This record gives sequence, C-alpha cells and structure tokens, in this order.
Amino acid sequence: MRMYDLIMKKRNGKPLEKEEIDWMISEYTAGRIPDYQMSAFLMAVYFQGMSEEETLNLTMAMAHSGEMLDLSGIRGIKVDKHSTGGVGDKTSLALTPMVAACGIRVAKMSGRGLGHTGGTIDKLESFSGFSTEISAEQFEEQVNRIGISIMGQTADLAPADKKLYALRDVTATVDQMSLIASSIMSKKLAAGADAIVLDVKTGSGAFMKTREDALALAEEMVRIGNGAGKHTIAVVSDMNQPLGNAVGNALEVQEAIATLRGEGPEDFTELCLTIGSYMLVAGKKADTPEEARAMLRRVIADGSALKKLEQFVEAQGGDPGQVRHPELLPAAAIREPVLAPMDGYLQSIQCEEVGNCSMILGGGRETKESELDLSVGLILHKKTGDFVKKGEPLATIHANDREKAAQASKRYLAACRIGEEPVQRPELIHAVIR
Ligand code: URA
Repeated sequence: MRMYDLIMKKRNGKPLEKEEIDWMISEYTAGRIPDYQMSAFLMAVYFQGMSEEETLNLTMAMAHSGEMLDLSGIRGIKVDKHSTGGVGDKTSLALTPMVAACGIRVAKMSGRGLGHTGGTIDKLESFSGFSTEISAEQFEEQVNRIGISIMGQTADLAPADKKLYALRDVTATVDQMSLIASSIMSKKLAAGADAIVLDVKTGSGAFMKTREDALALAEEMVRIGNGAGKHTIAVVSDMNQPLGNAVGNALEVQEAIATLRGEGPEDFTELCLTIGSYMLVAGKKADTPEEARAMLRRVIADGSALKKLEQFVEAQGGDPGQVRHPELLPAAAIREPVLAPMDGYLQSIQCEEVGNCSMILGGGRETKESELDLSVGLILHKKTGDFVKKGEPLATIHANDREKAAQASKRYLAACRIGEEPVQRPELIHAVIR
C-alpha cells in the first residue's frame, strides 16, 4: 500500500477500506509515514468527511495502536465516564464516589488539564500526598477492594491518537466531527471499561459551541461505542456558564465534597445525579434512571458517598482528614470580591473568559511543564438569570498575587453582562442519547 494512493482516494471523496485504515495507522504510529503526508490526509478528511464505517474503523485502529487495558481481573461491570471538558467541571470528583458507593466498579484513567483549568488528576492532587502514579496491580487490587481507583493515563494508551492530535492541532484539522469522535473514543475503548457514559458539553465554554454540533458529536460517539460492543450513553449538557460555583483546583474539590454532603450547588448536583443515574443503569445496578437517582440520593443522605471519597483518597496516599475538614485543603492568601457596577439581571457570563481568569491566577497550564497553583480560582455568587444589586459581589477571586487578582477581577467583570431585562436560566440537560 502507498500513503499517496490513500490521500488521493480520500481527496476524491472515496471511502477507505478497513485494511487501508489499519495499515495507515500502524505505519504512522511506527514513524514510517511522514507528518506531511498525514497532514494532507487529515485535510482531505476535513473536506470530504468519513462514513460511519470508516470512523469506527479509524477508532478501532487508533485504540489498538498501543496497550489495550485488560480489566478482566476486576469483578463486575466496569463503567467509565468521560466529559468533553468545560469550566468548573469537577463532575468526576463527586460522581465517581457516588456511583462507587452504589456498587459500580470505577476503574478510571484520567488526564491533566492543558489551558483553562486543571484536569481531574490536578484537582485530586489538592489532597496532600495523593498520587495517581500507581501500578496496574494496585489499580486492580484497589478497585476490587474498595470499588474505586483513578490512575494517570499511560503513555502507551492509543499512541496513534496522541501523534494525530498533536498534528491536527497545528494543521487546522481539530474541528472535524469524525476526527474528534474517533480521538475521544479510541482512548475510552483502550481504557477497557464495559460501558461508557459521555458528558458532551455545549456552549460558550465548550469545544462544541452549538447544540446541533454537540448533538451530532454525541450521536457519533454513541454509534462508535455501540459499534465496538460497549453499552454507550451520552448526555449533552450546558456549558454556557461555569458548572457549579467553584472554578480552580482545590476550590472545586471543596465544592465536590460539599455536594457529597448534600450541600452542593443545584446545577452541579443535578448533573451528577443525571450522569450517575445512567452509569447505574449501564452497570445494571438499576433498571431505570429514576430508580438509580433514588439510590444516588440515598448514598448522599446516609454519608456513604462521602465515606467512599475518604477511602479512595486514603488508598492513593492522600490525607483523608482533608475530606472531613476541607478547610485544610490548599487556600489562597488573597480574597477579592468582584462587585456589580449596577442593579440588574445577570444576562450571561462568557464562560471561556472565566477559565482564562483562573489561568491568569495560576490555576491552569500554559504549557505541559507549567506548575499549577492549586489554591487559586474563583467562587461565583451569581449565575445567569440571577438579580444583582449594585455593589453586591458577583464573585470572589482567590489569589496569591495582588496584580494577578486585579487582572482577573477586571476580566471577570468584563465577562459578565448585566441588563434590566430578566433572562431565563440556561437549560442544564439538552439531550440524552441512548
Ligand atoms: N479531545 C480529544 O481527546 N480529542 C479531540 O479530538 C478533541 C477533544
């Protein structure tokens, strides 16, 4: 086979055969196809698209380009969860102990964040001593013993995607539906779970800005998951404003703990209950989402979800005392309120800008090597649709540097639009694709 012929075939709008995709991905992973040829191919896909069959074949080829995690040593149905990412998205922190307390086996691989805010692993490292660099043996033993473990993504998980994603990033070929869907799903399939629940975000703080695009991506990923023999469900949820009130690593951990105590913000709690209920259905712990929701509410009310987080933190070397006493988590020295300049309704919050504010404060990464300040971030006091009086705080900035605090405060204020007209709160759950 020659890469030249495959580029021309795709350029002319013809579908590639499975054998051709398998060959191309294995040769590219091995370094035998140069980046310039793969770039041309990606651009051809950008304009010509891929059929459902091609997208599934590409996903499977990328999933098999490295290690396929074998979770067969873990008893029961393993259910994974994935979010396409957004500002204040700490869902995994609260959700995984909740579903584990209901008997679901959570064997999850997570990543660090780049840009905006930290990823799940960065947030978990707010607990002193917590580590996700654990062996496969400890991972398996821990899931069998306490029902939950989260480990860092290994370098050998879908290496073809790693190379391709880096190339797409510099060739203007990231935002193509089949390429995004196959990239995300290849990593999920390689991570070995039996069932997958996806949280596809839409809105100003999400990758998919429009509801239509988010729905199309969700449908594509569900098709791939089911095509690969994994029970896959997608929830399309809103990201036109930050999720919950906390943005920033340790602040988000505190909010997740409050949610496990039953004292979390309404939108964040609702999202955890929605995604959690589909995880329980996919894991066959409940027959209907309604029954599952009642189970999740029970483990919050009786304290077993919070206890599960404590066990999980302790098992991975963290300090469980910080779950009982979240005030012991890293805290910033400076608290600066952002005051409303006028009376009115908060009409919108430019979500991506809130992520940028956290980044300015040191809560996100500019490069892979950046050190995070886990203590900084923002607490929102008003969300879209709320009425605010002049001089009332819209948010509080948590910072360790006065100049950065002033910069973030200015940008946060500019990101908020206040007007006289009342506006509706954005709908949180846009769709569920089963
Ligand atoms: N996240 C991924 O992992 N891949 C994409 O292509 C886009 C978002």
